[in-house]
Amino acid sequence: MLPDAVDLIAKGAIVAMPTETVYGLAADAANDRAVARIFEAKGRPQFNPLIIHVTGKTMAARYVDFSPLAERLAEAFWPGPLTLVLPRKPSVDKDSAVSLLVSAGLDTIAVRAPDHDVAQALIGALGRPVAAPSANRSGTISPTTPSHVFQSLGDRIDGVIDGGACAIGLESAIVKIDGDQASLLRPGGVRRDDIEAVIGKTLVEAKKSAAPQAPGMLASHYAPSVAVRLDADRAEGNEAFLGFGKMMDAEAKAALNLSVSGDMREAAANLFAHLRALDAACQDQGLDRIAAAPIPNSGLGEAINDRLARAAAPRD
Ligand code: TXA
Ligand code: MG
Repeated sequence: MLPDAVDLIAKGAIVAMPTETVYGLAADAANDRAVARIFEAKGRPQFNPLIIHVTGKTMAARYVDFSPLAERLAEAFWPGPLTLVLPRKPSVDKDSAVSLLVSAGLDTIAVRAPDHDVAQALIGALGRPVAAPSANRSGTISPTTPSHVFQSLGDRIDGVIDGGACAIGLESAIVKIDGDQASLLRPGGVRRDDIEAVIGKTLVEAKKSAAPQAPGMLASHYAPSVAVRLDADRAEGNEAFLGFGKMMDAEAKAALNLSVSGDMREAAANLFAHLRALDAACQDQGLDRIAAAPIPNSGLGEAINDRLARAAAPRD
């Protein structure tokens, strides 16, 4: 299966691949047409740039400049759920340069080395980076299993590599490096305090700009088809319930618990799958909203609350 996928991607196909965070929709990052197909399949606004996935720092350093601070972060967290936004290097060889579409006109590129054997083998065999956003329609819930990918994009892509369920279940944390400053553009699979421990200072808050620096920064994102209500202690009326720890509503017409023991990693890994399952239950049973229990904001809770807040945000 993997050699076929590598061959397909080398020829310009778009194929979903497993990573430790969520499934990514992979294309040869040097192939403009293939990258354009990603935007088309996802229905993604062109101003939202993509992450390129590399085997590690050596491959990344062909395309972006590592400051000493960036180097420290890559050494501490790669391979793993941390994306670094770094200055794009002027390219020497036009044919293997990262497509300008990938970074949507910015002079930076977002790079990450996934901690997943299949993704690593695929990128290694291709010999250059793959661009890969989460493998779902733009604005909807990210996929953590192959069947989520099929449901969202099945007829729009060339294949899905089955790597089972994603271990982390939340997208990578995105950190932008400007010289000796690091700012957190998106909370994610690496905890803020772990990043700060490595850089020895606090992360700067991302600047609010008109064009979002990360689509995960759009107010409404990661959204199920029904509405979401936050900080709920039980389901009311026509609601399904998303519980956490002891906050559970056994009376609700549909209910799932992110982690009965209150474990943040388990909650992160379950978040998107449970949102999808409750969304489907709402469709089946004619419910019109998901009520979500409060989640402590510490550690991975920051990223979980970020995704829930966007799922609950008013939609256009
Ligand atoms: O865990 C992940 O990061 C997953 C897996 C597949 O690797 N990927 C993912 O990609 O979440 P996506 O496209 O759904 O989110 C990528 C984020 C977007 O919010 C995008 O705006 C931001 O990265 N981004 C990409 N390039 C950027 C750049 N040059 N500057 C700032 N933000 C950038
Ligand atoms: Mg996404």
